[in-house]
Amino acid sequence: MSGTSVETIGVTPTGSALGADIQGIDLSGPLSDELLARLIEIWAEHLVLRFPDQSLADEKLLTLTEYFGGQQPSGARKRRQEMGLGEHSKNNPTDPRFNYVTNLDYDGNPSATPRGNGAYELRWHSDNSYVEVPPTATLLWGQKIPVDGSGQTMFCNQILAYEELPVSLKEIIEGKHMIHDGSRNTANMVQVGGKAPKTQADIKGPVHPMVRIHPPTGKRALFLGRRWDYPSTYILEMPGDEGEELMDRLWAHATQEKYVWVQNWTPGDLIMWDNRAVMHRRTAVNPSSPRIMHRALIKGDPVVSAWDNAAAAE
Ligand SMILES: [Fe+2]
Repeated sequence: MSGTSVETIGVTPTGSALGADIQGIDLSGPLSDELLARLIEIWAEHLVLRFPDQSLADEKLLTLTEYFGGQQPSGARKRRQEMGLGEHSKNNPTDPRFNYVTNLDYDGNPSATPRGNGAYELRWHSDNSYVEVPPTATLLWGQKIPVDGSGQTMFCNQILAYEELPVSLKEIIEGKHMIHDGSRNTANMVQVGGKAPKTQADIKGPVHPMVRIHPPTGKRALFLGRRWDYPSTYILEMPGDEGEELMDRLWAHATQEKYVWVQNWTPGDLIMWDNRAVMHRRTAVNPSSPRIMHRALIKGDPVVSAWDNAAAAE
């Protein structure tokens, strides 16, 4: 849509704690500097953007990532490829720069237990928080959606969650960090080639601050990442039961319904979310109806710790 301009786009907030619909843009075409700057501004405000009626298969999705900082390979996929493991489905792209999230098995039929995590319910998480420099954002384009709409994606606003965190909890987490569990994937399966951890000492993963700065706004956001049943992600300065209880309280607070918006997918939707300020989860997918999503990650910058940047924080 060569006529796309700042004047012709529409922005409709979801009415929930985050998210907005953007109308009047064809993301497969070129984006002017002015339009891109406006999109980045809108994105900083709403954290999750939905663009309906897009056609963004394969190369087109990769081209789009270039406007937002370029792509980075997914941590789990990179690991599979480094180990010489094949694709989950013979239809999946071998290009390491993007992947399909799908409930199709190797032969292309919908399945309750495909390889990979394309069919299962996924708990709240921030993408790839188990790597040192997680991706800034995720682009997910819905090519095929199950007939019953299952596999909804839910998002929660972690800037708001931090703002409304009781002062007593803010004081407790101030200056603290977490070791993010890299032993299991987002569907709670032990990573290929790995071993299930038995104690906290077995947890391998990067150290991230519990609160990070969201660079576009300078605001603080809770950064909980992902957590499975014990032993999993833990608080570096507070291991053991005390830390577990604190994390229980933080997760319960951060995922309250008042911080959530639910994406009910329509084929052609492109969703962009900001992993620096948003967690997301997915409901289970209908095992007999195909779901094919194209995903690319936007290259991250090192996590900006709220503890190192007191001046930038509130
Ligand atoms: Fe995810």
